[in-house]
Amino acid sequence: MIWLQRLLCLLQVQALVQAIEEHIKLRKGQKILIHGGSGGIGSLAIQLAKLHEAYVATTVSTSNIELAKQLGADEVIDYKTNDFTSIIKDYDAVLVAAAEELGNSYKVLKKGGTLVSIVGNADENLAKEHGITAITQMTQTSTSQLKRLGELVDSGKIKPLIDKIFTLNNAKEAFDYFEQKHPRGKVVIKIK
Ligand SMILES: NC(=O)c1ccc[n+]([C@@H]2O[C@H](COP(=O)([O-])OP(=O)(O)OC[C@H]3O[C@@H](n4cnc5c(N)ncnc54)[C@H](OP(=O)(O)O)[C@@H]3O)[C@@H](O)[C@H]2O)c1
Repeated sequence: MIWLQRLLCLLQVQALVQAIEEHIKLRKGQKILIHGGSGGIGSLAIQLAKLHEAYVATTVSTSNIELAKQLGADEVIDYKTNDFTSIIKDYDAVLVAAAEELGNSYKVLKKGGTLVSIVGNADENLAKEHGITAITQMTQTSTSQLKRLGELVDSGKIKPLIDKIFTLNNAKEAFDYFEQKHPRGKVVIKIK
């Protein structure tokens, strides 16, 4: 199973590393808000940010609050019932992995903070207005980072969130499931 988990999350974790380590340069004690903490990307981002000993807040829907706590989030905001902008203030960084939350994310950063969007274009004008850096990330792959991240997965320091595994013969059912069931994390088709 380890090889499967490793394959599954390597590319996604690459997106996180680029955001959290290269763009944000997250350090111990800093505060980061991660939108979409119950998704494939967000669930890994929470774990990576905690490995950096940051304080992590995240937005998830009601049914995923417990999951986000188990992943290590210090503060979990239910986006269905709460407005995160009334709770989060003066953060060092925001990682936007849920497009709906991009527009309001500029205002929760302190001056000099960093916003990384992996879901759409960040707004340079809004960034200037708030005195922050806003980055639109298109993830690049790097062999050395992938190798190191593979080790993080193999050692269990980062665990991918898998909703359900299908065989290749059941690929159609896998796509139906993905479209109809609102999976938590990833739906996997096992090739071998
Ligand atoms: N730029 C890049 O290089 C790059 C790389 C990889 C992925 N992406 C993009 O990143 C996004 C996330 O990917 P993913 O694989 O993590 O998707 P995913 O597994 O489908 O997760 C999306 C998550 O967003 C959450 N969500 C929905 N509406 C929300 C809201 N208003 N506030 C907060 N969370 C909300 C959902 O949480 P609930 O289930 O709790 O509702 C869901 O778990 C996608 O748009 C993908 O295309 C970009």
